Amino acid sequence: MEQYVVPVEWQEGYVKVLDQTELPERETWLEIRTAEQMWDAIRRLCVRGAPAIGIGAAYGVCAEMRRHEDESASEYHRILNDTIDYLATSRPTAVNLFWALDRMRKAGEACGNLENTETRVKLEEEANAIEKGEEAACIAIGENMLHLLKDGMTILTHCNAGGLATVRYGTALAPILLGKERGINFKVYADETRPLLQGARLTAWELQRAAVDVTVITDNMAGMLMAQGKIDAVIVGCDRVAANGDAANKVGTYSAAVLAHYHGIPFYVAGPVSTIDMKTPTGADIPIEQRDPEEVTCGFGRRTVPEGVKVYNPAFDVTPHELITAIVTERGVVMHPDREKISALMGE
Ligand code: MRU
Repeated sequence: MEQYVVPVEWQEGYVKVLDQTELPERETWLEIRTAEQMWDAIRRLCVRGAPAIGIGAAYGVCAEMRRHEDESASEYHRILNDTIDYLATSRPTAVNLFWALDRMRKAGEACGNLENTETRVKLEEEANAIEKGEEAACIAIGENMLHLLKDGMTILTHCNAGGLATVRYGTALAPILLGKERGINFKVYADETRPLLQGARLTAWELQRAAVDVTVITDNMAGMLMAQGKIDAVIVGCDRVAANGDAANKVGTYSAAVLAHYHGIPFYVAGPVSTIDMKTPTGADIPIEQRDPEEVTCGFGRRTVPEGVKVYNPAFDVTPHELITAIVTERGVVMHPDREKISALMGE
């Protein structure tokens, strides 16, 4: 068994996707052959986590376009653009989705009058380059983050920003997994992450496979552990970083950042530059996905809220840059991020 997870794989004509809604109970792999199937897999969180959503959508375009090779070139390009527009409606917050689809659109445009079969090859090469780029970014993030940490530290993480959310090493989990390979050991507390339990179901599953010392806590226990001096650093992933360094991530991240600030604990945000969106000026401009109230009222098959009671279920929150000790990317570490430092990182 490979120790690291590759949740989305291209298989010459279809996309193999690990259905994360079934974890940790079952490892079920979906065969995705159409854009509709990929849209549904992204919307239902079968494939989830910002970089993995981007990779999944890019391969979703490839799977769909395999079905239209017999069309005229102009019709093929029309379908390509419609497919990209359609997949972009699957989820609103993680900017990697739009970044990856934009790359696919440009790759298609660059093909001009090529035969459809040649365009298809170029599209598949681009999707593969997106995947390989994100995998390399994860390793570089892990390396950069390791400089900020010390052997034996105890880390709190929220949601899942591991291989399941990317490819293999993940972002927030990359230093932990890379460290493990090098005999640098961390203890990890994984926030359960209500309402869909990405921390309990996914982070714990990944870290256990990698033989990392992981303990699951409910989200409301983090403050107590910090007060007891049991947390040395908080590391989280991100779904979109605005141009001023504000970072959207799974709802509950902001609470963890406020707690870390109060207790004087470093709060690190890990993410590839594909998650930084210079077109979004501040965190207030990041669209926050609202999800089905049933995720809260009937989470895992049992009703836990009386019928008819109102529910508010935003999937993400925004941590203001003032609360972030550093944003760690493959290009380097941005300490105390602000607009100028993010601009410099992005070369703008
Ligand atoms: O709703 P999800 O499970 O897609 O949310 C995922 C997160 O919030 C992750 O922390 C984020 O995408 C970073 S993944 C490297």
